[in-house]
Amino acid sequence: MQYIPPANLRGHDVEPLLTSRGLTLDWFNNPEFDPHHPANVARFIYSEVANLVPFHYRTAVSSLPQLHLWIDGLVATAREAQAQRGAPIAAVNVGPSLLLLGSVGVGKTHEAYGAMRELAVTGVSTRWAATTAADMYAALRPRHGVDSETEFRRYRDARLLLLDDLGADRKPTEFTEEINFRLINHRYEHHLPTLITSNIDAEELRARLGDRVTSRLREMCQRIALKGDDRRRRAA
Ligand SMILES: Nc1ncnc2c1ncn2[C@@H]1O[C@H](COP(=O)(O)OP(=O)(O)OP(=O)(O)O)[C@@H](O)[C@H]1O
Ligand SMILES: [Mg+2]
Repeated sequence: MQYIPPANLRGHDVEPLLTSRGLTLDWFNNPEFDPHHPANVARFIYSEVANLVPFHYRTAVSSLPQLHLWIDGLVATAREAQAQRGAPIAAVNVGPSLLLLGSVGVGKTHEAYGAMRELAVTGVSTRWAATTAADMYAALRPRHGVDSETEFRRYRDARLLLLDDLGADRKPTEFTEEINFRLINHRYEHHLPTLITSNIDAEELRARLGDRVTSRLREMCQRIALKGDDRRRRAA
């Protein structure tokens, strides 16, 4: 793991994330020149995650207790595995998944990127892929010069995956159904932590995704329902 000098991340608003983990900026900015030091792991992973988080959500902080608990669980499992293996750093490899449900604009994507940012500063290594379901289908459409299967594995095998807006397409096609099944089945079988958001309710989700996908989601995911109004209206 590369050493990231503390000065490189000045200007990033990591303090609220650290505070919610009971950590401090002094800890994060620990100048010790040890790439395996948890503070350096946190800086390295945060700098990677900062490239994945869209500009709009760059300051997102999660407010859901269930998301904090999910992060606690992933961190604890990673540390246990590190202790058992005597590994130099702790890394998230397996864990439960979450399904954030709620209507348009309640804050699902905000919560998801908040969780991604928060997990990044814990000192545990995380490797994310992040996409909306629609962007993923578009990236996987067979076309000349692109190996769709290699692209698919980027999502399928990602240590952590944020899959935003699952089920948003009103008319599933054979193609999207196959992608959904292969993706969710693989992540289910390998216990790969996946953060899924959807703005349709549970019943409709079953109709759009089919029984086999929803059955797996039910077992692998804790469901969190976000309530409230469209925050975009409020902002406007
Ligand atoms: N806890 C929060 N604090 C401050 N702003 C928030 C919070 N949650 C959401 N927002 C803001 O409210 C708006 C809507 O949030 P977001 O984009 O996460 O909604 P969404 O549920 O993902 O909507 P959609 O279903 O349309 O994708 C955004 O501008 C977001 O930054
Ligand atoms: Mg969203």
